[in-house]
Order: sequence, then C-alpha cells, then structure tokens
Amino acid sequence: MSRIIFGVTGGIAAYKAADIANELTKAGHDVFPIMTKHAMEFLAPLTLETLTHHSVDKEEFGQDDTYRIRHISLTEDADLLLIAPATANILAKAAAGIGDDLLSTTILAANCPILAAPAMNTRMWENPATQANVKTLEARGWRFIGPAEGRLACGTIGRGKLSPVEEIVSAALEMLQPRRDLAGRKIIVTAGPTREKLDPVRYITNFSSGKMGYALAEEAVSRGAETILISGPVSLPKPDGVRVVPVESTQDLYDACIKEFETADLIIMAAAPADFRPASMAEQKIKKEKGSSLTVSFVENPDIAAALGRMKRPGQLLVTFAAETENLLENARTKLAAKGADLMIANDVSRTDAGFHVDTNAVTILRPDGSEPEVLPLMPKREVAAHILDAAKLLWE
Ligand code: PMT
Repeated sequence: MSRIIFGVTGGIAAYKAADIANELTKAGHDVFPIMTKHAMEFLAPLTLETLTHHSVDKEEFGQDDTYRIRHISLTEDADLLLIAPATANILAKAAAGIGDDLLSTTILAANCPILAAPAMNTRMWENPATQANVKTLEARGWRFIGPAEGRLACGTIGRGKLSPVEEIVSAALEMLQPRRDLAGRKIIVTAGPTREKLDPVRYITNFSSGKMGYALAEEAVSRGAETILISGPVSLPKPDGVRVVPVESTQDLYDACIKEFETADLIIMAAAPADFRPASMAEQKIKKEKGSSLTVSFVENPDIAAALGRMKRPGQLLVTFAAETENLLENARTKLAAKGADLMIANDVSRTDAGFHVDTNAVTILRPDGSEPEVLPLMPKREVAAHILDAAKLLWE
C-alpha cells in the first residue's frame, strides 16, 4: 500500500476529486486529502473523508497530531503527491516557492514524486506566466497530465479541462509502480572525470562532477538492471544496489571498460576522460625556482569509446556523449560515426544550466541512421537518464 498525498485546489473540477480519491483508495492506496480554502467552496470535505477514511487536512497547525508540524509529518513517508485539479495559482506558488497554506508548504517539504493535473480557463493556461511556471516545475521533476481540450465551465471550448479521471488515476498508479523493464540486462555506466598525474602531488583534470553518470546508474538499477558504475574520483554517495568500480586515469577507465563490456548488454559513456596525459610523470614533486616556467608535453590517451565500438558484438549497445562548446550537432555527428556508437547524446556544456556540475541537463539524442535529432528540454539529470535508457531499450526491440 502506498501513501498518496492528494492536494485539491479551488476550481469547478474539484468535484471530480471525489472520483479520483475513490479510485486510488479502491486500488489499495492510503490517500491523505488536503483541500485549499477555495477547494472547500466546490466540494465538501466530508465527501473525501468518507471515501478515503482520512480526515481532510486544511490547517497547517493543530488538528489531530498537535505536537507535529503537519506539512512535515504528512510528507515524511509519502510515495506520491498528486494535485488535481491544480489551479494556475497553486502552480505559480509552487514555482515561486511560496508556502502560505498547508498545501503549498507541503509541496515545499515534499521529497516524493509530484504529479499535477491542471484545470483552468484556456487563457489562464496559455498565459506566459502559467506556461513559464509549468516549465520551471517540469525542470524540477514534476510530471503533468493535461489539461485536456473540451467545453469549459465558463462556456468556452479550448484547452484547460481536467484530464479524464481514469487517465489521472493510471498516471498516478504508474508513478507508484517501479518499472522493472531492464531486469536481466547488464548495464555499465561511466561517470566523472579522470586524473592524469604530473608528479606525486599534482594532476590534470576537468569539471565533471559525476552527477550525469550517477543519475544514469540510479535509473538503470531502479529499473532492474545489473548495474556497474565505473567512476572517476567524485564526491557523490554510492548508489544503492550498484557495483562501483573506482578508477583514476583514462588508462584505468579504459582497462575497466574493456573488462566489464565483455559480458554487458549496454555501456553508457557519461564520463569525461582526459584525452591527453603528461608524456611522463615526475617521480618527485616538481620544484619551482624563482623566475622559472614549466612546459609539459602531453601524449594522447586511448579513445575508449572507439575501442568499444570496434569490439561490440551484435546486441551489445554503445551510448556515448559529446560534450561540446560550439557546433554541437555537427561535432556530435562526427563523433557518433568515429566511435561507432548506437546513440550519441549531444551535450552543450557552454550553458550554465546544463552539462558540468549542475543538477539539470538539456541534451539532444542522435542516431546513426541520420533520423531527426531528438531534442530534450531542460530537465533533472535523473529524467535525462530515463530518456536515454528508454531510447537504448527501443534498440533491443
Ligand atoms: O559529470 P557531470 O558534472 O554531471 O557532467 C556531465 C558531463 C557533461 C560530463 C556529461 O554529460 C558528458 O557530456 N560526458 C561526456 C564528456 C566527454 O568526455 O565528452 P567528449 O565529447 O570529449 O567525448 C566523447 C565521448 O567519448 C564521451 O562519451 C566520452 O566518455 C568518450 N571518451 C572521451 C575521451 C576518451 N579518451 N575516451 C572516450 O571514450
């Protein structure tokens, strides 16, 4: 049984909240309703209380467990926060981080998946402010269902109608069920930077934090894959259920990839290995002398992805990234061919909200058949990971 917090906001579609609460409860879930002041103008709390067997939460403090702060206690073990109907007002408050009633503070405190089913007048939905708020929330990982098109309560026809109850319920149920669609697959993910030593105390590296690769490994393991994460030096916690192979240099990464790929179904190269290493490593710390300068010559490191592209057998997949600061698609296409990849993830790393270090990314998926590039909007790295795994999975079907 999952715990669902069910936020109902004030619009005429609030009357459909009763059916949603009823279906989710019948499906065996524990539904905790929160109604805003305006929602209670459209629907009596008693209706939701009778259907869910839980009292409707309306006030931030007090009620039955007076010693606990309600928006915190509600979110502690929640598996899903569903908001249906979601008005333009609640979306605006959530996007701006405003917490001025129980539902908006609950949204701020929630660390579970959030699904919103908007319902409002067409012009309110199309208003640039609402559209910008939806984009912001999507980038934070919110999922949206609808609104649908149809006759609205105000008499006009257009987009803004609450999606059908059965669609909202099945979207909620789908979010509660962990997907196991990668069970039986062995997936390798590379993550993080490499370090190329100059002397015993200095090295050359880059800005990779490992977040993209770790998100891929977390997504793969959550969907049932045996997951091996070959990781350069990063400061991220080890994802549960994942075997981590720590590496330091590009040569270490090469050795680990060649060894593990032998028995793998898929390798995703999200790491940022150094293309060059110092031609030699000084055995002792390089000393500086007053007015001296240092010239280091570099030699090329092995191209791991290209080697894997040459060794892959039918059924094995190679997914690579192209981190670019200019001519994104053109450069990514050239790398796709050079490495023999099955998918290339073009990543514009000149953006401040995508690429290195940040929690979000905006990538374009390229395929060797020259089909139209799949441009993904800015979203959390975990969602980018889900899209990449979906795209790879399709290649096995
Ligand atoms: O780690 P984060 O902070 O979350 O940042 C994520 C990221 C920007 C590092 C990631 O999204 C990304 O773009 N990774 C690829 C970085 C990179 O090395 O790109 P590249 O265009 O230089 O290399 C192309 C591909 O070849 C990559 O898949 C790379 O892993 C691989 N490669 C590179 C060099 C090398 N010697 N051998 C390789 O196999």
